[in-house]
Amino acid sequence: MEKKSFYITTPIYYVNDIPHIGHAYTTIACDVMSRYMRMKGYDVRFLTGTDEHGQKIQTAAEARGMTPQELVDKIHVNFRELWKVLNISNDDFIRTTEDRHIRVVQAMFKKLMNQGDIYKGSYEGWYCVPCETYVPESSMGENRTCPDCGRPLITMKEESYFFRASKYVPELIEHYEKNLQGVMPRIRYNEIMSFLRGEVRDQSVSRTTLKWGIPIPGDEKHVVYVWFDALINYATAVGYLDSQEMFKRYWPVVRHMVGKDIIRFHCVIWPLMLLALGINVPVSVIAHGWWTVDGEKMSKSKGNVVDPFKMAELYGADAFRYFLLREVPFGNDGDFSETALVGRINSDLANDLGNLLNRTLQMIVSYANGVVPDGGGNGLQGGDPLDLELRAFGESTLGLVDQAMATFSYDEALKQIWAFIGRGNKYIDETMPWKLNKEEKTERLRSVLCNLYEVLRLSALLVAPYIPESAEKIWKQLGCGGSPLSAQLDEFRWGGGAGTKVDKAEVLFPRIDLEQWKKDRASASPKPEEKERDVEHEAEIDVDGFRSVEMRVAQIVRVEEIPRSKKLYKLEVDLGYEHRTICSGIRNFFRPEELEGRRVIMVTNLKPAKLCGVESNGMILAASAGEGENEQVVLVVPASDVPLGSRVR
Ligand code: ME8
Ligand code: MG
Repeated sequence: MEKKSFYITTPIYYVNDIPHIGHAYTTIACDVMSRYMRMKGYDVRFLTGTDEHGQKIQTAAEARGMTPQELVDKIHVNFRELWKVLNISNDDFIRTTEDRHIRVVQAMFKKLMNQGDIYKGSYEGWYCVPCETYVPESSMGENRTCPDCGRPLITMKEESYFFRASKYVPELIEHYEKNLQGVMPRIRYNEIMSFLRGEVRDQSVSRTTLKWGIPIPGDEKHVVYVWFDALINYATAVGYLDSQEMFKRYWPVVRHMVGKDIIRFHCVIWPLMLLALGINVPVSVIAHGWWTVDGEKMSKSKGNVVDPFKMAELYGADAFRYFLLREVPFGNDGDFSETALVGRINSDLANDLGNLLNRTLQMIVSYANGVVPDGGGNGLQGGDPLDLELRAFGESTLGLVDQAMATFSYDEALKQIWAFIGRGNKYIDETMPWKLNKEEKTERLRSVLCNLYEVLRLSALLVAPYIPESAEKIWKQLGCGGSPLSAQLDEFRWGGGAGTKVDKAEVLFPRIDLEQWKKDRASASPKPEEKERDVEHEAEIDVDGFRSVEMRVAQIVRVEEIPRSKKLYKLEVDLGYEHRTICSGIRNFFRPEELEGRRVIMVTNLKPAKLCGVESNGMILAASAGEGENEQVVLVVPASDVPLGSRVR
């Protein structure tokens, strides 16, 4: 029989930014679903990639003194590397600057133009000239100023191509009325329906104000608007132009996973484009919630962006994956905290799962020479009611997990799996194998050990999509061949493990000693009272002395190494009213991409000084603690957005 297919996509991420937990979250959720569906026997296609055109990218490239192509070639690699570190099993990685994509965008644009669904008109709006961007009324600053740079906006009118989105709205409404799973969860479905029932305007789909985009065939002063370009990636990657066979296989089963920030593009604009093109709309768009960090919005200027590379390094990719999907009901917003992560590692992973594995393997070694006994009487027929209940629990867990996965309820699936693991631990306490051994109740002991082994074998399969590396380790310790990830869930049979020789028990998730962990964290960011001890103080100054130091908010736009120095960076900073070059001795503490784009505080009236051949015209502020190898340096930054050049007093 031919396999059923399943196609799932992440958004393609902008490469002007380094990847953070938000990107990791969406991608992990898609990975878990892909792995699960493969274990359910589906022919899975899993796509991720990067969004590489548009104003944001052009601006970011200019700020770094690079061409946009150089920037995207360099930065997109961060995403590829993160997916490796997080064990993401994507089948393809698409970049919108690839030729295969450009051809599809141009072909679709032409088709829509030829059939009259794209027409030429003019676009009018509030525009920030220095930022080269239109600003919607809803996000304008006071007195019609740019929310980014604070400067006054002008009205601007330019020629633009429009997509006749309005024409297909009734058809889309009808589609969603019949397909309630078209947008998930329900709260987003309702939001989209009420939006569709309001006024949906035709969409501007070209720009003449920027160069970094896909040229419009036959009218090259226009480039395709970045969202029109980006959405099409999902069709490009499954062979819209290049492979009819592949397109037929995967397009009808496509699901897009996105954050709730971009649902209008995915649930309104994109399906309208597809209807116009005569292609079916996605089976589902699944929208998840938003992560904050320790209760605050994540932002570069606050400096609280959680680095997924670092989380994986400190706690392991599996623990990080598990935490993100377990902690919040899928669809809801969540708050990330390392303390909560450590709590989950200790309770769920080390304690519940780790202990069950360890205790079981040790008992199989001590009481059965390391070979899984058969349950007696062919598994459990006629067995103890306790055994029958345990087996039924396991089998129903498979069904409950399947139901949860069908609605992308990852947290619910994990709760069911952990309820089963908990049942396994309780079964040990109830049956007391050590007592059975002492009392030489051999038959009973054999059944109990066999059952416990099956709990673990099934658990390893169920957790495999979530924590693939650990599941493989469990599998190996259980003495099973191959990988749990290539096993089929529906082929699991209770009792099937009898006769297997188990491997050495090893600790899966070491418990994190909370006292030590707190100490380590505290020494990474010393507390004020601890710093008090050997503080060296400067001589007192009066208010005027302080006032004579002119400090302002500046943005780092470019970072270069200075060949003659190991410690210095040459920074170009933007003060709003001028750009300056300064030298800063922070090279050992920051990578260029951690600095570029950051808003900092700068002393602007220092006498110019030449350092290693470069003239420095100012100084940026940083806080430092510790010495030598333990030295830690953090930038001093404004707590929220304020125009460049603002005075600091
Ligand atoms: O929007 N919490 O790219 P992007 C949860 N290129 N998820 C988050 C998050 C957070 N705090 N921050 C980001 C774009 N995400 C476009 C997409 S698709 C054709 C084009 C995740 O780099 C979430 O999935 O801004 C969100 O939708 C996505 O990153 C936005 O990534
Ligand atoms: Mg974004």
